[in-house]
Amino acid sequence: MAECASEMNREAMAATAIAHPNIALVKYWGKRDVERNIPAVGSLSITLDGLTTTTRVQFDAELSEDSFVLGGREAPEMQQRVARCLDCIRERAGTSLHARVESWNDFPTAAGLASSASGFAALVVAADQALAVGLPRAELADLARRSSGSAARSLFGGFVELRLTPDDERPTEVRRILEPAQWPLRVAVAVTEAGPKAVGSTEGMLLTERTSPYFQAWVESSEGDLAEARSAVERGDFEALAEISESSCLKMHAVMLSARPGLVYWNGATVECIRRVRELRADGVPVFFTVDAGPQVKAVCLPEAFDRVAGELQAVPGVTNLLESGLGEGARAVNP
Ligand code: DP6
Repeated sequence: MAECASEMNREAMAATAIAHPNIALVKYWGKRDVERNIPAVGSLSITLDGLTTTTRVQFDAELSEDSFVLGGREAPEMQQRVARCLDCIRERAGTSLHARVESWNDFPTAAGLASSASGFAALVVAADQALAVGLPRAELADLARRSSGSAARSLFGGFVELRLTPDDERPTEVRRILEPAQWPLRVAVAVTEAGPKAVGSTEGMLLTERTSPYFQAWVESSEGDLAEARSAVERGDFEALAEISESSCLKMHAVMLSARPGLVYWNGATVECIRRVRELRADGVPVFFTVDAGPQVKAVCLPEAFDRVAGELQAVPGVTNLLESGLGEGARAVNP
């Protein structure tokens, strides 16, 4: 009987959440404050529905430390970041209980597909639910941001903006601009290499800030880029969004390339995919590209153009896989 009661108690401290990666159209690169992980620039993203992270968190009085298993394997390199993220929720819940965390991605991990975004978004939602804290979404986004800047955006669905604020207590603010159904764009992700990326985002950002002569110009131009993209989204102006998104992407990669040593996240197939997307748009196909800290190319298009775009990218030599997505919802708890 006692055993049964403790088993029930354990179940009560467990929860599962899902989250989707998001893709920034106006990019985040650089940190205003490294310790607190405050971005140097605001960003604007779309949340995807075709790629999913599922995370189960189980708090347990018998554990002496947190454990983290990713895709069925212990992931000691992520252990500390996961524990620090859980600390934030524990602090809010007033508990020191440790947790067993298991997470699965249905897409390649750490290859520029924003797995840390969906990972930390799912983690804060599951931990909040498991401890029945009930934090507001804005606060969950703030906690996720401390672990990974882009994760804050995956708390929301559709088109999402992360803004910097002058408030030192709450230095970022995340909000949804449009729901997925209000402008149901499609995304074709051309995978050109499935392995993990060479230089992680945090390390790459710090190197760029320290060594790129263009970093300051990047930061100074970001406000204008954000305003332009926000307005394009609000007006549903695809051509304007295409232009500003490609510009923000290329500008970020230009800053990365100008670090010492330069950060080259692309391979030959990345460049070919970019060229193909540009040719398609010149042909009147409503599509634009974006690329993050990895070699995959994300082609964002109007729904009617999706089959053509996917077919063309699949045919590019070096493209090993093509993932399809629409726009999805923010992170949410699901039944275990
Ligand atoms: C190129 O959110 O992974 O994808 O805050 O250091 O964890 P950390 O960085 P992360 O950086 C994402 C960078 C990017 C652009 C973007 O998503 O805005």
